[in-house]
Amino acid sequence: SEDELRKRALEIKRELGNRLFIPGHHYQKNEVIEFADTTGDSLQLAQVSAENQEAEYIVFCGVHFMAETADILTDKHQTVLLPDMRAGCSMADMANMEQTERAWHKLQNTFGDAIIPLTYVNSTAEIKAFVGKHGGATVTSSNAHKMVEWAFRKKKRILFLPDQHLGRNTAFDLGVPLSEMIVWNPKLDVFEGEVGKIDEVKMILWKGHCSVHENFRLEHVHALRNTEPDRRILVHPECTHEVVNASDYNGSTKYIIQKIKEAPPGTKWAVGTEMNLVNRLIQQHQDKDIISLNPEMCPCLTMNRIDLPHFVWSLDRIIQGSPVNEIKVDSEIASLAKKAIDRMFQFV
Ligand code: 13P
Ligand code: SF4
Repeated sequence: SEDELRKRALEIKRELGNRLFIPGHHYQKNEVIEFADTTGDSLQLAQVSAENQEAEYIVFCGVHFMAETADILTDKHQTVLLPDMRAGCSMADMANMEQTERAWHKLQNTFGDAIIPLTYVNSTAEIKAFVGKHGGATVTSSNAHKMVEWAFRKKKRILFLPDQHLGRNTAFDLGVPLSEMIVWNPKLDVFEGEVGKIDEVKMILWKGHCSVHENFRLEHVHALRNTEPDRRILVHPECTHEVVNASDYNGSTKYIIQKIKEAPPGTKWAVGTEMNLVNRLIQQHQDKDIISLNPEMCPCLTMNRIDLPHFVWSLDRIIQGSPVNEIKVDSEIASLAKKAIDRMFQFV
């Protein structure tokens, strides 16, 4: 039963003490996040993983790319475990190495070496390694502006992987007009959009997206503006440009939480991000009127793969001496990926 599982989780946590560390992303279910030693957005979770030197086992409650990043940043004696290997990220899976090599080749032919790659942390370790190897860096939704500025100081153009929306939203905020951005379609190996003045292009946006955040649409914003003009709209920058542009505020999960925390009692909010976080905000701030921007609520199915039974199973296997689902990034890939991550850490 759920009670037994919870009791078991507490027992194991007590037994392993500092040998065990549990980071939990803000999108995780309540039944799991209650056992996390730390919660955070992807940047914070990467930082705490890098700082933790003592835990032998890191049971990562989040998705695969986050666990890979934790493995890259922790010491050799530390083992990173993902309670369910099916907890991937559909956006991270939208860029693979073959596609990226082909795109890079085409971009080199088109722009020479006046281009630098940046990848959202929501990408595989291989893609991070590719970016590290070519002088680029990783970015998260909480430092994307700083990192895009950094990249523009280095080169005239940026290849931004794999989330076109975060790339577009960030560059637009920094003053790059939409006419100076094009989309690279990695399935067809072609540019999309108006490619008339190719010389003026500054942002090459990989055609990837988050299937959760694309569910928040302009029609939802308009419906609220018509019926409840006093409801503030707060979204994640993985939402499309039209939605971010029409909303009042946008930022990472950490920013969203902070914004709601600081809001005066009685204020009304519509939040455009993953369902578990929105539900938690609703529960924790009952003095404020909070709803999801999409009334249907938008769960991240892969984040939700980490449930209490998988979590406790993962802990149990540690106790039994046979841990499962170890995330181990190849050492050559890890060291190149670390270059990209370290270039980001300079700025946080
Ligand atoms: P942040 O927690 O960095 O805002 O990222 C959101 C996300 O989609 C993670 O997969
Ligand atoms: Fe990936 Fe989107 Fe889920 Fe985040 S919310 S893990 S970007 S699919």
